[in-house]
This record gives sequence, C-alpha cells and structure tokens, in this order.
Amino acid sequence: VNVGILFGGKSAEHEVSLQSAKNVIDAIDKEKYDVTLIGIDKTGQWYLNDSSQFLLNSNDPKTIALSKTGKDVVLVPGKESQKLLHIADSRISGNIDVVFPILHGPYGEDGTVQGLLKLANVPFVGAGVLGSAVGMDKDVTKRLLRDAGIPIAKFLVVYKWNQAQLNFDEISQYLGLPLFVKPANAGSSVGVSKVKTEQQFINAVEEAFRFDTKVLIEEFIAGREVECAVLGNEMPIASRIGEIIAQQEFYSYEAKYIDENGAVLSIPAKIPSEVEKAIQELAIKAFKVLCCEGMARVDFFLTKDNKAIINEINTIPGFTKISMYPKLWEISGISYPELIDKLIQLALE
Ligand code: DAL
Ligand code: MG
Repeated sequence: VNVGILFGGKSAEHEVSLQSAKNVIDAIDKEKYDVTLIGIDKTGQWYLNDSSQFLLNSNDPKTIALSKTGKDVVLVPGKESQKLLHIADSRISGNIDVVFPILHGPYGEDGTVQGLLKLANVPFVGAGVLGSAVGMDKDVTKRLLRDAGIPIAKFLVVYKWNQAQLNFDEISQYLGLPLFVKPANAGSSVGVSKVKTEQQFINAVEEAFRFDTKVLIEEFIAGREVECAVLGNEMPIASRIGEIIAQQEFYSYEAKYIDENGAVLSIPAKIPSEVEKAIQELAIKAFKVLCCEGMARVDFFLTKDNKAIINEINTIPGFTKISMYPKLWEISGISYPELIDKLIQLALE
C-alpha cells in the first residue's frame, strides 16, 4: 500500500505541520507501507518525494525553533514516481493508494484538500469535506455543538466589514473580562489573544483579522484545560484524558511549540473517573455531531465543579513530539505506529 503523506501547506501552521509529518513519517510501518512524500510550500506549490525534502529540512528559523520540540528523523524517501501529481489540471494520478493529510489549518484541514482528494477518488485519512470544513470554523462548530445541547463558552462573531460596530463596553459587559479574541479559522492559537483592557481588545481584533475575515470574541472560562482523542468511523472510541497546564497567561503558540517550559502535560489527567467518563462521552458526541471521521482531538475547559465545556475540535490534530493526540493513544494502549496503521486502515474502510 502506497501512502501519500501531505505536509507543509499554506496556512500559518505550516511549520507545525512539518514537525507533525516528520513524526508520522518516522513512525509509519515501512514494511507494510511505501511512503510518497508530498510537500506543499507556503505559496501552495507541491513537491514530490526527494524534491520535497527541502521543506522538512528547512533552515528557516521558525522551523528550526519548532524542530527542537520535534523528534529527530531519518527520512526514507519513496521511489520517485513516474507519474507525477498533476495538480495543475486538478487530477491526482500515480500509484498512491491512500493519502494521509498532515496539514493543519486552512488549505488542508478545512475540507479543501479533502474535496480535491474526493474528486480524484483517492481515499484519505480523517474527516471528509463536511467534517473538515465544520471543524475548522470555530463559529460553525460552536453553533452545531450548542444545537446538540453540548456546553460551549459564550461568544460573539464579528466580520471585517462590520468591525466598526464593535463596542468594548457592551461586549465586556456581555462576556465579562478577561475575554478571548480568535480568528474563526485557524489553529495552534495563531492570532489568539487574551484581553483585559480596551486597548488590548483593539490590538487583539486587528491581530485576529490578519488571519481571517471572521473573528470570534469569547468568554473566558476559569478552570483547567483537558483534551480527549477520538478514533474511528461509525463507532468511534475515546482515549484517556490529558491535561495541559499552561505556564503562561494561556496555551499560546509560543507555549505550545517554542518555549520549552511553556506548558506541562499531565497524562492521564488527575480527574475523577466519572468526570473522565463524562468527557469521553461528550467527545464522542461532538465527533458525531460535527460529522468527523477517522480522528479528532476534542479540547475542553473543565470548571472548578468539574463541568466540561467544549472549546474546539481539531480534525487533523498535531502529531509533533509534544502533541496530545498520539500521546493520549499511547497511554490508552495504542502505540504511535499502531495508531498510524489504524488511521490508514480506517481511511481504506
Ligand atoms: N492545530 C494544532 C496542530 C493542534 O490542534 O494540535
Ligand atoms: Mg486547534
């Protein structure tokens, strides 16, 4: 079976994707699977196998900073295919049996690549077009969760065209302070700010609009941050729960990938077993409500009285060395190579 591993991509999470991909490429069972590397640079240009290596071995400072949290990897390049990918004419050909998209953020996790693969009749790992698109957009995600009776944080949506109408006093009265400002479609906390004052709010909105034309303004939930991994298609299973103990103001991009002391992961989280069970049930419910397939990581806030509130879902969760998704499966009894194998098999079902 030839697995095409898609990585890099045009989003602000390009460098995170490179680290995720290195780990997946390292862990994949090379006896069972041939690997075709398909790298996408920041401009959206595609590169196959050896020609894609420059992305994985990039000496761009951001990639180097992130690679410190990644694992050292010896890449085993696949055979250069005779039939290259003809993306220009929207057609994928060649000897790829299944694609594992390890692209985070827009143009990869949002249904665009999934649509291309679907059109090309190539099976792929993870959610389809709908689940990917829904899971990428925090506004749509939250409305669907709310409709299903799943607890979420209070929020408002603002578009670039109507941002002039924003009134900080009214918003802070409705949502309280501090509050969060986030691009609707982004990941890894890119463009996210925690806000306490009007000036911070103005700056935060401007920053979030750098990444999207739609921005969420969200209530701050005091409590712990816990995450649950989900795996499967029609009958998904949930992992043990992990906790993130941010050592900074919040679990920002820096805290995640750059600052070595940015966050501490507690796996499994020290929570009562009935609370763990409730979180697992909510994670599976959210996975179904949001039309996910294959995999997803569901991120929660856990209040002081152990009420779980869903923050968001990630349909292509991080696979970096510090990432929760593979770690949660590891403590739940599924090793990293087994996990990759299961995900590929789920795609081929
Ligand atoms: N968006 C990042 C990769 C994550 O959720 O893990
Ligand atoms: Mg995310």
